[in-house]
Amino acid sequence: MIIVIIGAQWGDEGKGKIVDYFAKDYDIIARFQGGPNAGHTLYVNDKKIVLHQIPSGVFHANTSNLIGNGVVLDPVTLKRECETVASFGIDLKKNLYIAERTHLILPTHRALDAAAEQSKGHQKIGSTLKGIGPTYMDKTGRNGLRVGDLIDKNFTTSYIKLRLKHQRLLDNFSFSEDISAWEEQFFEAVEFLRELNIVNGEYFINDKIQAGKRVLAEGAQGSMLDIDFGTFPYVTSSNTISAGVCNGLGVAPQKIKEVIGVTKAYCTRVGGGPFPTELENETGEELRKIGNEFGATTGRPRRCGWIDLVALRFACMINGVTKIVMTKADVLDAFKTLDVCTSYKINGKDSTEIPFQMMRVKIEPVYKSFAGWNIPTGAANSVGNLPQNMKTYVDFINKYLGVNIHYISNGPGRDQIISIP
Ligand code: GDP
Ligand code: IMO
Ligand code: MG
Repeated sequence: MIIVIIGAQWGDEGKGKIVDYFAKDYDIIARFQGGPNAGHTLYVNDKKIVLHQIPSGVFHANTSNLIGNGVVLDPVTLKRECETVASFGIDLKKNLYIAERTHLILPTHRALDAAAEQSKGHQKIGSTLKGIGPTYMDKTGRNGLRVGDLIDKNFTTSYIKLRLKHQRLLDNFSFSEDISAWEEQFFEAVEFLRELNIVNGEYFINDKIQAGKRVLAEGAQGSMLDIDFGTFPYVTSSNTISAGVCNGLGVAPQKIKEVIGVTKAYCTRVGGGPFPTELENETGEELRKIGNEFGATTGRPRRCGWIDLVALRFACMINGVTKIVMTKADVLDAFKTLDVCTSYKINGKDSTEIPFQMMRVKIEPVYKSFAGWNIPTGAANSVGNLPQNMKTYVDFINKYLGVNIHYISNGPGRDQIISIP
């Protein structure tokens, strides 16, 4: 059976830490979508690691890690990351597998991403510029190259053909940057990739499930960045929700036993697009400072605001969330009052639903206020040590969502997490 861990907000909820925490009890950790736009932070021997392509179970010697077919893969990022991971004594020959149907991010995909963003001016998405959109476009447009193509003797010819197609598009954008250095790195990394375990992902994972192995599917980005259900067009290009597990790994829906939604105790977003509870004031800045809210992939400051229960309940609905993990609860230690968004006033009318689009209407968050706890919680190691005001905050969220918070993360450290019975 499979458990799924997904981001229930706009990404960066702390999925990496949570996957690493659960990984010890699982045989296989599989990424099913997204690519190097993801930045999943974990701590190994107190050393901070940010993973972009490799699943977050890789530091557990007895787990296998699968990069599934739904992922888009940049060989250059993968090579770099493999080198970092190997420096910790991890044998990637033993515990990393890559599905042959996984689409490759080419240097020209990155160039197209940059050119498209530039042309959008102030309406740009705020993409991580890792080539995600153009690579998924080549997948659905039936042009892309896949990991399995690397062993085809005509790979270079296919590459040149696709590159030419991209060049014509780039000419329209008047993109003139020299990408020959990117290409050199790409082909070097492709050689490296050819030596890794390239497998038929769908048989690999179904055989393991059949044999009774435990699988954890690791989501990237967040539900509000989903290509279908997010704040389109300010989204990423994949299905970030639990349904993405089925087509991103080749497993049937009835194999999914549990969907764990990860949310921060407040809310952040990096890049453009609607964010109803954003605080463009001192409180927002304090959240950014205390929460160290700077992008793990791009270093950009994250936009910060109060927790948005309208969006969170929507995420629980479309993902079928069965359990919630609330991260970064410790970041709220310093705040006198905490606001919780319980509905939106949309063009003056109260609503608890996410509207079709959120840019052309005026959305005002309606808040319920809670007293803060104002004591440090980072050292707490059981529910008994948590302040009553935090419990009140959590209870309200549980009731509103109809799904319970089962874990509270109270610091970035590997053991800073409290299970709630
Ligand atoms: P992901 O993309 O969902 O894996 O999240 P990121 O790694 O991009 O961002 C989460 C950030 O918060 C990282 O810097 C983590 O080390 C940090 N973090 C995770 N959980 C906690 C927590 O409970 N408290 C604090 N203070 N930091 C946390
Ligand atoms: P993790 O897995 C937060 C955002 C970008 C941009 C939009 C589209 O670390 O939670 P893209 O590069 O996909 O074309 O960017 O999505 N974005 C993320 N925001 N966390 C992420 O991943 C993100 N991956 C993409 O900032 O607004
Ligand atoms: Mg991240």
